[in-house]
Amino acid sequence: MRVLILPDARAGGRAVADIVARVVQEAGSAGERPVLGLATGSSPLPAYRELIRRHRTEGLSFAGVEAYLLDEYVGLPAAHPQAYRQVIRRELTDALDIDPSAVHGPDGTHPDPATAAAEYERALTKAGPVAVQLLGIGTNGHIGFNEPGSSLRSPTRVTTLTERTRSDNARFFRSLAAVPRRVITQGLETICRAEHLVLIAAGAAKADAVAAAVEGPLTASCPASVLQWHPRATVVLDEPAAAGLRHGEHYRYAAALDLG
Ligand code: F6R
Repeated sequence: MRVLILPDARAGGRAVADIVARVVQEAGSAGERPVLGLATGSSPLPAYRELIRRHRTEGLSFAGVEAYLLDEYVGLPAAHPQAYRQVIRRELTDALDIDPSAVHGPDGTHPDPATAAAEYERALTKAGPVAVQLLGIGTNGHIGFNEPGSSLRSPTRVTTLTERTRSDNARFFRSLAAVPRRVITQGLETICRAEHLVLIAAGAAKADAVAAAVEGPLTASCPASVLQWHPRATVVLDEPAAAGLRHGEHYRYAAALDLG
């Protein structure tokens, strides 16, 4: 696992944008259609702003890219501003030259969410592997909406949010009562099929979850700890999010040597 501790979230955004841009450019020059795995929530926003900037000012093109979301609320109308397909359009893809029909997410409006989850798993298997999967981390260690206790081998499925996640996400809604209870999420096994996992965290509220994920035991009690088991995982942190790490000095030293 590579751990990058950067001065602030903007620097983290640039580091993540470097990773995504390299994949998009290399696939573009090889005539391939890269598959990106996108997260919603606050954590990836600095990276999305930087990708939009590079698209506008440096000609970074997303024309051939396919994008797959991690998760979706069950039961929000498709046009709801907090439905993740709306969020990703607003925060990223509408500002890029990606084909809107190439942006995919679980169908949270499906009358049978379990069927929608199974269909999404099949679509991902067919389109994959995802070249880079961006991830945020919940204050309880979730990735996607795999809450503590999720099987490390879970597939895409319908699951239930913890009350902690609902209250963490209430800031996006009118009230806590408006936050859905059920979601469709890529499973931990689904996420781990991606070639490169990139987890982004900023702020002191994430410090305990980050320490558990990076240096705690590999356990379903901290779903993000599954990154320890992945052959290629990068964790991009600002200083407050890295504050609970025991080996922070070594990560800084190793990253400085990598930069040469
Ligand atoms: C969102 C997602 C979640 C968030 C996590 C952190 O698609 O899968 O795991 O990444 O809840 O949310 P923020 O970034 O808003 O702190």
